[in-house]
Amino acid sequence: MNSSSPLPAVNRRTFLKGIGAMADEINKAAGPGPQGPGAVPVTLTINGEKKDFQLEPRVTLLDALRNYGPLTGTKEVCDRATCGACSVLIDGKLTYSCMKLAIDAQGQKITTIEGLAKDGKLTPVQQAFIDCDALMCGFCTPGLVLASTALLASNPKPTEAEIKRACSGNLCRCGTYPHVIKAVQKASGQSVAETTTVINYGSVA
Ligand code: FES
Ligand code: FES
Repeated sequence: MNSSSPLPAVNRRTFLKGIGAMADEINKAAGPGPQGPGAVPVTLTINGEKKDFQLEPRVTLLDALRNYGPLTGTKEVCDRATCGACSVLIDGKLTYSCMKLAIDAQGQKITTIEGLAKDGKLTPVQQAFIDCDALMCGFCTPGLVLASTALLASNPKPTEAEIKRACSGNLCRCGTYPHVIKAVQKASGQSVAETTTVINYGSVA
C-alpha cells in the first residue's frame, strides 16, 4: 500500500481480531446463550420466598411447583392451556403455569393457592367459596379462586357478566359455575344472586 494512503493498513491478524471483537459484541447483545439440556440453577420467588432449584430448562412452571416445590395445590389436568387448573398469579396476572417455562419465571412474583391465606386466615374469596358451596371435587377450585382473586384485585365490584368472563378460562367438570358466581359476589360485598343466568360465554360482552 502507498504510504500516503489515508486508509489504515489491514493485515490478516488485524482483520481476524476485528471479526473476533464483532462476534463478542453480537453475543453480548443476544444475551445468555442456550442453556441445558441438563439441569441449570433456577431461582423462583414463590409466595414471597426465594427458592433455588436445579431444573432442566424444558421444565414448566407447573412441573417445577408440583414436583420440586412441592406445591401440589396447583393442579395438572390438560397440560395444554385449556382447563385453567394450573392457574397461578405471576406479578398479579392470572397465568397458566403449564404454558410457562420455570426458567422464564425468574425475577417474577409467583403466587400459588398456598400463598393466599396468611397465618391460617383464609382470604374473603376463599371463605366465600366455602360459604357458597362453590366446589365439589375441588380439582378446579385453586384455579377458580385465583381467577376470582385476580378479578377482584382489578375490579372490586364486578358484574355477573364480568365474573363469567374472568372465570371463562377455568373449566369445572362438576358444574359449580353458579355457586362460583355467588362466591365472587359475596367476596366483593355485593348481594348474592338467587339464580344466575345460563352461562353462555359467547354472549358475554
Ligand atoms: S393444566 Fe394448564 S391449562 Fe390445563
Ligand atoms: S369442582 Fe370438580 S371440577 Fe370443579
